[in-house]
Amino acid sequence: MGILDKHQVLEKNVTLLAIFAFLVVTVGGIVQIAPLFWLENTIEKVEGMRPYTPLELAGRDVYVREGCYVCHSQMIRPMRDEVERYGHYSLAAESQYDHPFQWGSKRTGPDLARVGARYSDEWHVDHLTNPQSVVPESVMPKYGFFSKRMIDGKYIEDVMKTHRFVGVPYTDEMIENGQADFAAQADPDADYDGLLERYGDNVNVRNFDGQPGVSEMDAMIAYLQVLGTMVDFETFQPAPSR
Ligand code: HEC
Repeated sequence: MGILDKHQVLEKNVTLLAIFAFLVVTVGGIVQIAPLFWLENTIEKVEGMRPYTPLELAGRDVYVREGCYVCHSQMIRPMRDEVERYGHYSLAAESQYDHPFQWGSKRTGPDLARVGARYSDEWHVDHLTNPQSVVPESVMPKYGFFSKRMIDGKYIEDVMKTHRFVGVPYTDEMIENGQADFAAQADPDADYDGLLERYGDNVNVRNFDGQPGVSEMDAMIAYLQVLGTMVDFETFQPAPSR
């Protein structure tokens, strides 16, 4: 019986075909997935990456709650048109503390992976409140209510604990000071030395929305302004491929 005849037996017997197809897919799957269990780290370490501050984390939660990812991606692909428009392509490390990640798959609006520091805080307040006031043809909905919703960060320490559970390296000290750091970041008159000590000097400490107290607007802008700014691409060198 030649190999072709043998194959005909397989093709003509549905049960046999199913069993063999299952075996092939199983072996192929294991070969692909198994090495990941033994690799120490599948993400190349990159200098500058840090976990989100409590205020940024709260802003990120609002971003997820409002479904901003339905219209905005956070994933710059290594293609020329994208890199020229948005900046350096996204690194795996840049979303390593994102649970769940916000890569998105739809771009009704622009990619936001590097929107941090591109606009002023005032621009963001104006834009989120009434996008059409700064970009007349915009189809983005209005989010002015962020300014009216005051938040006190009373759940933020629990949120940080949850993120630590899935691998974000929040220290005990970061979690104990979660609510204090939350308030300090939006109040330049407060004592924010501890916040900078814990998260680094490049944390933006400002009254983001320009009004007293901490609102969802503060949290959202703190989050948007840090996106894509943690890694310094003036000095970044990709590791040589092995
Ligand atoms: C219905 C789709 C839609 C949704 C939902 C949406 N946006 Fe947008 N967004 C757009 C469009 C279109 C633009 C481009 C025009 C403009 O600047 O308004 C935009 C622009 C932006 C920009 C400016 C980006 C740049 O590089 O110029 C930011 C920042 C932004 N959106 C943030 C958000 C946030 C935060 C949310 C969730 C609270 C959100 N968007 C929800 C459609 C959307």
